[in-house]
Amino acid sequence: MSRKIYIIGNWKMHNTISEAIKLSAEIASAFEQIAQETTQAHAPIEIVVAPPFTALAAVSQTVSSTAISLASQNISFAPSGAHTGEISAAMLQEVGATYAIIGHSERRHIYKEDDRLIQQKVQHTVREGIIPIVCVGELLEERKNNQHFAVCTQQIQSALDSVTADLATRVIIAYEPVWAIGTGETATPQDAQEMHVVIRKAVQHKYGADVASGMSILYGGSVKPDNSKALLAEKDIDGALIGGASLKVDSFINIIQSAQ
Ligand code: PGA
Repeated sequence: MSRKIYIIGNWKMHNTISEAIKLSAEIASAFEQIAQETTQAHAPIEIVVAPPFTALAAVSQTVSSTAISLASQNISFAPSGAHTGEISAAMLQEVGATYAIIGHSERRHIYKEDDRLIQQKVQHTVREGIIPIVCVGELLEERKNNQHFAVCTQQIQSALDSVTADLATRVIIAYEPVWAIGTGETATPQDAQEMHVVIRKAVQHKYGADVASGMSILYGGSVKPDNSKALLAEKDIDGALIGGASLKVDSFINIIQSAQ
């Protein structure tokens, strides 16, 4: 996969099935409209939404003949079996999910997912043909102690530990500083760019320059229409993973437009 721009809406635990159908239909039609208005000179942007599991089937149907793709917000490391509450890659593939968010900070911190579990999930997901969106990011404390580069580098190394170079070309990374998620605080474009370079270097160290330069590294953490343009203008920021602002069609579409 070559480096693409991704705008991904992580709906978290929002939207019932009927609400999800409405929002995804609105996003699809607004995107179709702006896609018609923009010229081919613009870089292609991949638009993805990640509804809750219960709404995946309905949203999949709603967006099936549109340019919108589907992600799950989580995925099991196991193919099947006694894993109460978990959802497998095959189940997600059948429902039409192309991507799976893995290691989101809410999974790491509220649900105590550790690096080892995230590593198993990434390895399994990419082998099963679903594209992992691997989230990394430091806590405020870690940034204050100047440990943020080391923390994110270690998270990347661990998540990609058993992923071959061949499969690594299918991985997407999202840098989401924990202190910026849902708080209204955003990393400055310069801070984010600096971290994206560090992440790309970690990828390069493991897989070489070709894989590193082809990898899409997204930023997430209070991305809004009024800060997205500056963030996305940075050379190593290849898109955004958006929570709150992806729940309203206008703000999500504005962010998409700022990427064009
Ligand atoms: P936020 O969430 O945009 O609401 O900060 C981002 C995320 O958690 O992916």
